[in-house]
Amino acid sequence: MVKICCIGAGYVGGPTMAVIAYKCPSVEVVVVDISKPRINAWNSEQLPIYEPGLEDVVKKCRGKNLFFSAEIEKHVAKADIIFVSVNTPTKTQGLGAGKAADLTYWETAARLIADVSKSAKIVVEKSTVPVKTAEAIEKILTHNSKGISFQILSNPEFLAGGTAINDLFNPDRVLIGGRETPDGMKAVKALKDIYAHWVPEERIICTNLWSAELSKLAANAFLAQRISSVNAMSALCEATGADVSEVSNAVGKDTRIGPKFLNSSVGFGGSCFQKDILNLVYICECNGLPQVANYWKQVIKVNDYQKTRFVNRVVSSMFNTIANKKIAILGFSFKKDTGDTRETPAIDVCRGLLRDEAQLSIYDPQVPERQIRDDLSMRKLDWEHPGHASSVSFSAPEQISVVTDAYQATEGAHAICILTEWDEFRFLDFQRIYDSMPNPAYIFDGRNIVDVEKLRKIGFIVYSIGKPL
Ligand code: NAD
Ligand code: UGA
Repeated sequence: MVKICCIGAGYVGGPTMAVIAYKCPSVEVVVVDISKPRINAWNSEQLPIYEPGLEDVVKKCRGKNLFFSAEIEKHVAKADIIFVSVNTPTKTQGLGAGKAADLTYWETAARLIADVSKSAKIVVEKSTVPVKTAEAIEKILTHNSKGISFQILSNPEFLAGGTAINDLFNPDRVLIGGRETPDGMKAVKALKDIYAHWVPEERIICTNLWSAELSKLAANAFLAQRISSVNAMSALCEATGADVSEVSNAVGKDTRIGPKFLNSSVGFGGSCFQKDILNLVYICECNGLPQVANYWKQVIKVNDYQKTRFVNRVVSSMFNTIANKKIAILGFSFKKDTGDTRETPAIDVCRGLLRDEAQLSIYDPQVPERQIRDDLSMRKLDWEHPGHASSVSFSAPEQISVVTDAYQATEGAHAICILTEWDEFRFLDFQRIYDSMPNPAYIFDGRNIVDVEKLRKIGFIVYSIGKPL
């Protein structure tokens, strides 16, 4: 029986390993983590992350060929294939702060593998890492090893939050990068054989290590760039009377461009787009390519501009003062169907409104109150000026209330900001909501999900992104 161990039981490690266990009953999969509470949660009825379909897959395999454990050393030592799926956040201090990837967790994991291994291992980079990380990992493993053979593979993950299980069941592609030596190719084949249990061969792409590492950063940069492109157009639409949905539709019909990922929004969020682009920018700078670095930096600048533009629109529409006005925030997660709030645009929008002394009443179907309060009070890294005063924490607990349904959030509110496209927000009884709000009643739709004409008929003043006012 092939034994797999995955270091890191997070948003990627948990779901990917659950799907491997589910699709490969002949493989034993153990997911380990330094966080005991996280492991306990994986072993409980209440999984640590919310993903549609995940619970079902975990319940089918847990205790059979899928295990979650805090005994890291024991399971790493026994494994044939070790996935490393630890977090790789942006560095907050020192050289490259605000841009470079912090590989501390990765390095700790690599040193542990080197220390406890007694047999040959295939070590798989599942985390998103800077190009050439495999070279550094190889050094750590081989310098510390006792003649043990280690093969490093890059197998970046392309799942998206909220659709993780579907993405893992039906991936557009699986990418495996390895050394082009006989041992390297053998390792690539061993990993390919795992995925071949359910992924058609033509969707498994094998490349050299550096192409695989860079393709992951490139894919996220291209995706984020599409959103910033359409968001930049949304500002122009508002200035000219064009409608960004009509523009997206017309542009996306060109088969060379395609229709997906062209929804204008209050800005992209999520744990990876910004982090990975900053990482790419840093790599370009380190390689003496400032023009390329600046090109990608603009993707983040436009995203920041879109969030600021949204806040400014709210404030200016409400007679330039929102002090002590109740504003309902519908949605806090970075997209629907996830409780993940990492880099959610809601954080920046709420902070902007709080700075103007609004009273916020926040509702999200999946994000707990504690998380919202933590997110709004945490120090925020200013990626352009790490360490500068603008990264100071912002805390105003008395200006925030977190409630458990949309009607409670909107009752008596002067305005509603829709910041996540949860399906339930499309089907709210807006007449009931309007009747409970003072006049004029505003809706600022940061996700373009409401029926503007219908709401205007009710009496709302509606602002949608990139649409005529
Ligand atoms: P996460 O923070 O949810 O999980 C990482 C886990 O690793 C944590 O539970 C942490 O306790 C654990 N960990 C850290 N150091 C460890 C160590 N030395 N030993 C054992 N456990 C350790 O992160 P994530 O969202 O799963 O992301 C992991 C990687 O995958 C990142 O590089 C990210 O860029 C990449 N990625 C994420 C997504 C996504 O949708 N979240 C998608 C594709 C790729
Ligand atoms: C993204 C990529 O889609 C995954 O392929 C990748 O594996 C992952 O990052 C990662 O490396 O972490 P994720 O961030 O989970 O996945 O979610 P997306 O669906 O990409 O959405 C990201 C953000 O863009 C969200 O805030 C979403 O609301 C926003 N978005 C997306 C738009 O504003 N408009 C769109 O048309 C699409």
